[in-house]
Amino acid sequence: EMLPIVTKPLIQYAVQEAIDAKCDTMGIITNRYKKAIEDHFDTNTDLNNTISGSSKEELTKELDEIIDNVTFVYRRQKEIKGLGDAILQGKPFVSNEPFAVILPDDLCDAKVPVLSQMVQVYQKYPDHCIVAIEEINKQDTDKYGIVDGDFLEDNIIKITNMIEKPQPKDAPTNFAIIGRYILIPQIFDAICQTPKGKGGEIQITDALMQLAKQEKVLGYKFDGIRFDCGSIDGFVKATNYFYEKE
Ligand code: G1P
Repeated sequence: EMLPIVTKPLIQYAVQEAIDAKCDTMGIITNRYKKAIEDHFDTNTDLNNTISGSSKEELTKELDEIIDNVTFVYRRQKEIKGLGDAILQGKPFVSNEPFAVILPDDLCDAKVPVLSQMVQVYQKYPDHCIVAIEEINKQDTDKYGIVDGDFLEDNIIKITNMIEKPQPKDAPTNFAIIGRYILIPQIFDAICQTPKGKGGEIQITDALMQLAKQEKVLGYKFDGIRFDCGSIDGFVKATNYFYEKE
C-alpha cells in the first residue's frame, strides 16, 4: 500500500478514488506492521515548517487537502484471516449503511473513476452489492474470484455463481472480480456465517455467494484500465503509465 507509483503511495490513489466517489470516512484495516499508513495521512508539522515559503511547498498540497477534508479511522486485523475477515473489521465504522471496499494493489484509471461508476450502478440498483469485474486470460483464473451469471445490461451481470481462485479447468467464465466492491450491511452477517474457504481463510467471495443466492449481487464491467500492483509486472506498467500521464 505504501509503495509509490511515481509521486504517491498506492493507498493515496485509493483514498482519492473514494473521495471522488463522495466517501467522507476512510476506514483503513491495518496490522501491526502497517503503521506507516497512519503516519502518511497525518499532518507533518516539521516538514511543513521546513518547506514553508520554498518552491517545495506545492508538493504537499494534494495530501494536505485529503487530510483536511476526510476522516480516517483505523482498525488492526489481529491475524491474517482473509479478505472477508478484514472487511468484517470495518463493521464498527459503517453501521447500517452501504459502503465501498477498495484494495489498493488494484490501481485503476478511468475518465470517470471506477468507484464513481459503481456508485452510479448502485443508485440504479439500490440494496445490491456491486463487484467490479474484468475479463482476464483463462489461465489466470486461479488468481481471482470468478463470477458467472446473466447479463442485465451490456456491462452488468446478475451474479448466480462465484468461486474463489478456481483452476482454469474449473472456472465457469473468465470474468474476474477486481478490488472494488460496494457492499450492503447484510454482508457482515453473511461473513460471520461463512466457513473458512480457499487457503483456510474467510473469503469475501464465499460470503457474497450467500447474497448472490438471494439475487443481491451484480457484477459491473467497468470502463477503464487496471494494474495489478501486487505483481512486479503490474507495478512497473503502472509506474510507466502514470509517469507518461503526469
Ligand atoms: C482478492 C479476492 C479475489 C479478488 C482479488 C482482486 O484476492 O479474494 O476474489 O479477485 O482480491 O484483486 P487477493 O488478490 O487478495 O489474493
